[in-house]
Amino acid sequence: MKFGVIGTGIVGRTLAAKLAELNHEVMVGTRDVATTLARTELDGYGNPSFSTWQQQHTQIQLGTFAQAAAFGEIVLNATSGGSSLEALKLAGNAAFNGKILIDVANPLDFSRGLPLRSQ
Ligand SMILES: NC(=O)c1ccc[n+]([C@@H]2O[C@H](COP(=O)([O-])OP(=O)(O)OC[C@H]3O[C@@H](n4cnc5c(N)ncnc54)[C@H](OP(=O)(O)O)[C@@H]3O)[C@@H](O)[C@H]2O)c1
Repeated sequence: MKFGVIGTGIVGRTLAAKLAELNHEVMVGTRDVATTLARTELDGYGNPSFSTWQQQHTQIQLGTFAQAAAFGEIVLNATSGGSSLEALKLAGNAAFNGKILIDVANPLDFSRGLPLRSQ
């Protein structure tokens, strides 16, 4: 089956890698492919850049949010919760027609420290 995973963070990557390991076809979605591939620094949690990660997962494609949503027969949203509506709008309504959308995002507010609160 084809899966579109919207979100390049550790959650999207973990889900994408497991789906690919199970022999599904996977495209991960990002706002801007060139920008995401150009990043080389570790993220705020010490995770490698997406391009470094993708070198270990060469079967997983990277596209825009819209391309990943269109690619997937099932689509997963793993974007930053506070930005998920914006991300899904960028993906476009048409790409979701008749599809299951699995949404694992949480709109967590990191601005006031622990414990985390919903936005
Ligand atoms: N359900 C659960 O058990 C569970 C567990 C842990 C985390 N989560 C949730 O999973 C989600 C992903 O977490 P994460 O740590 O992997 O990643 P994250 O850092 O929360 O989100 C990264 C993704 O959000 C996109 N994004 C950020 N700002 C954006 C904006 N202004 N407009 C559009 N898109 C934007 C990024 O786009 P680019 O690719 O363009 O940079 C990237 O794809 C979060 O909502 C988190 O709360 C759920």
